[in-house]
Amino acid sequence: MRVFVAGATGAIGRVLVGQLVAEGHQVVGTSRREEGVAGLKAAGAEGVVVDAFDAEAVARAVAAAAPDAVIHQLTSLSGGTSADNGRIRRAGTRNLVDAAAQAGVKRIVAQSIAWAYEPGDTPADENVPLDIGAGEPRITTVNGIVALEEAVREIDHHVVLRYGQLYGPGTWYERGGVADAVLHGDSTDPAAKFLGGLPPNDAVSSFIHVTDAARAAINALEWPSGTVNIVDDDPALAREWVPVLATSLGAPTPEATTGRAPWERGATNTLARSLGWNPQYPTWRTGFGIN
Ligand SMILES: NC(=O)c1ccc[n+]([C@@H]2O[C@H](COP(=O)([O-])OP(=O)(O)OC[C@H]3O[C@@H](n4cnc5c(N)ncnc54)[C@H](OP(=O)(O)O)[C@@H]3O)[C@@H](O)[C@H]2O)c1
Repeated sequence: MRVFVAGATGAIGRVLVGQLVAEGHQVVGTSRREEGVAGLKAAGAEGVVVDAFDAEAVARAVAAAAPDAVIHQLTSLSGGTSADNGRIRRAGTRNLVDAAAQAGVKRIVAQSIAWAYEPGDTPADENVPLDIGAGEPRITTVNGIVALEEAVREIDHHVVLRYGQLYGPGTWYERGGVADAVLHGDSTDPAAKFLGGLPPNDAVSSFIHVTDAARAAINALEWPSGTVNIVDDDPALAREWVPVLATSLGAPTPEATTGRAPWERGATNTLARSLGWNPQYPTWRTGFGIN
């Protein structure tokens, strides 16, 4: 298949490009930087320099690629603000979906998140409504997700992947990453605030390794239209996973505490597994050890 990967140099994108090329797909990936395109070519893909906020450039790039499918892995998290990330979810997705529609692309797979569900006491499946009643700052994230998912559903064949907390190479949770710095008492990275100091409390998170996140995007090219949580089998209390992460990074464990935000509930993967997705890292308990 000919696949256009928007955000091909990100934490998921670069693994995804490698997997697609290895399986014989023709890949056109995007980056805003010439170095990014050079990396894509070295990985066996074609590359195009494009800014997601430049609607005409996105339209030209997608039309020139003439893909069978678009995979949307654009985020703007390196700069550390949820406003930036909300903007790329709204405006970047709008431009990409318009470009795909104009080019006659009938298939899209897009990255969303599995922690935008409304409050509850058990891990959320895909039928739980999004948390549109949240206050600031959370509502900025939720609104971005709502806009992204609604736009993606305009393409005939669409799969929205609601990913859990991403870990593995290139993520905040790798050795030397943001979580490592926070646990060692250095939280000067702008992304550190997304992690909230990593208190070992009652918050429940669902994790996903980048390898399994990328594999799901390839599998989803063949799935029926819909919305699918891509999380591991093991939603976990921060009280359980923070100490394991700290130990694997050689960091002290922060003092245990109680409480959680009502929406910190994790998510289930029953639907993804029923579609044949089979994660290589079914639990963060073993996955954290391999960075
Ligand atoms: N589900 C999750 O938990 C989740 C999901 C994604 C990311 N993250 C975290 O976020 C951190 C940073 O993510 P990341 O490394 O993937 O980087 P990122 O800065 O969020 O960028 C992701 C991709 O989007 C592209 N991009 C960003 N802004 C763009 C724009 N205006 N126009 C075109 N392309 C644009 C980037 O391309 P160029 O920079 O090459 O232009 C890159 O390919 C990671 O450490 C990861 O832990 C978490």
